[in-house]
Amino acid sequence: MARIIVYTGKGGVGKTSVAAATGLLAAERGYRTIVVSTDAAHSLADSFDMALGPEPVAVAPNLWGQESEVTHNIEKYWGTIQAYVSSVFQWRGLDEVMAEEMSVLPGMDELASLLWIAEHHDRGGYDVIVVDAAPTGETLRLLSLPEAGKWWIEKIYPIQRKIAQVANPIVGRVIGMPMPGDAVYTAGEELFGRLEHMHDLLVNPELTSIRLVLNLEKMVIKEAQRAFTYFHLYGYPTDLVICNRVVPDDAGPYFEAWRQVQARYWPEVQADFDPIPIRRAPFFEHEVVGIPMLRELGGALFGDEDPTAFFYRGRPYSVHREDGAFVLSLELPFTAKDEVRLRRSGDELVVQVGWWRRNLILPRVLVDLPTASAGFDDHVLKVRFAAKPHRQAGASKQ
Ligand SMILES: Nc1ncnc2c1ncn2[C@@H]1O[C@H](COP(=O)(O)OP(=O)(O)OP(=O)(O)O)[C@@H](O)[C@H]1O
Ligand SMILES: [Mg+2]
Repeated sequence: MARIIVYTGKGGVGKTSVAAATGLLAAERGYRTIVVSTDAAHSLADSFDMALGPEPVAVAPNLWGQESEVTHNIEKYWGTIQAYVSSVFQWRGLDEVMAEEMSVLPGMDELASLLWIAEHHDRGGYDVIVVDAAPTGETLRLLSLPEAGKWWIEKIYPIQRKIAQVANPIVGRVIGMPMPGDAVYTAGEELFGRLEHMHDLLVNPELTSIRLVLNLEKMVIKEAQRAFTYFHLYGYPTDLVICNRVVPDDAGPYFEAWRQVQARYWPEVQADFDPIPIRRAPFFEHEVVGIPMLRELGGALFGDEDPTAFFYRGRPYSVHREDGAFVLSLELPFTAKDEVRLRRSGDELVVQVGWWRRNLILPRVLVDLPTASAGFDDHVLKVRFAAKPHRQAGASKQ
């Protein structure tokens, strides 16, 4: 069983550097470690300051690096289906090159790269798999895809396949549209099976941690909060937030304004991600390139600790349905007698209980719903949302 650590965050915050530094530290602790970049715009090789390839390359003792190659992955996992989809686009009059391009579903490239995680896990060659993933929004959407795939395969696929078996020759002859052959279905089933397996690994809290990298900047924090919400929603275990590029106190007058802005955001970040621990790394004087600098970054983040430890276990909050209404539950270490105060602003919910306050970015299903009540139930704060009558009535007709 390999330990899986995925780093994600907004563009440019330091994901690659932190992933490489974590990998190096883990390797130096004696774990056989691989750092895989699944971001199509690779920079892992630049970070390690050596050439990498689509297959694992030895970087240092116990350490391997890999920049998964998009075209290879797509061909491997998606090739048969792609050929079919492409033939449909061509039949619709799309030029061949264009059809090829269009037949790769958005996100398919990164998803195929992520499949390497499962592959390494199953082969069992490594103790630790560190993933340098694509920026937040993208990865999130992709990570939730396997669930969609599962639904698709269970509910629609078998039926669709039966219909196709019956109607194939007739429909094909009449309208001339290319129909999927058995190989396409088999490839689809295999792909979704793999995605499901990968998804199972990624939501397994005994194996996986998804770690958020951020900088102390408004937009970066907001996006990290959003990602945090979705990790909870999809059940991806999060154990650490990395706050990178913190301007040191003695950075000098040129950085003073930056330092002040960061000092203002720091307590907010602590409150927003509480109880997930946060590690800070300073804004170094040099770019983080090459083994010595990566060692320095790793040291700043983890000191003498094991970077593969689980720094937090559990899900600080969850959203579920109770009697037809959505309920947001927050585990709090205290039972507050104080009044619970809720304030809404756009997609944000500010929950305040006495001195304790948290800003939550609401998942999309809750954004339009008014909050109905809030109260404690055995150390769990439950915020109840009003049901939305119109939409439910509309939906029940179908
Ligand atoms: N703590 C730090 N101090 C100084 N420079 C840093 C620090 N962390 C990262 N950098 C530098 O910032 C740049 C961006 O870092 P990195 O490539 O790790 O970010 P990223 O989040 O992976 O970016 P992308 O979204 O483009 O993949 C790099 O040049 C890196 O060397
Ligand atoms: Mg990167």
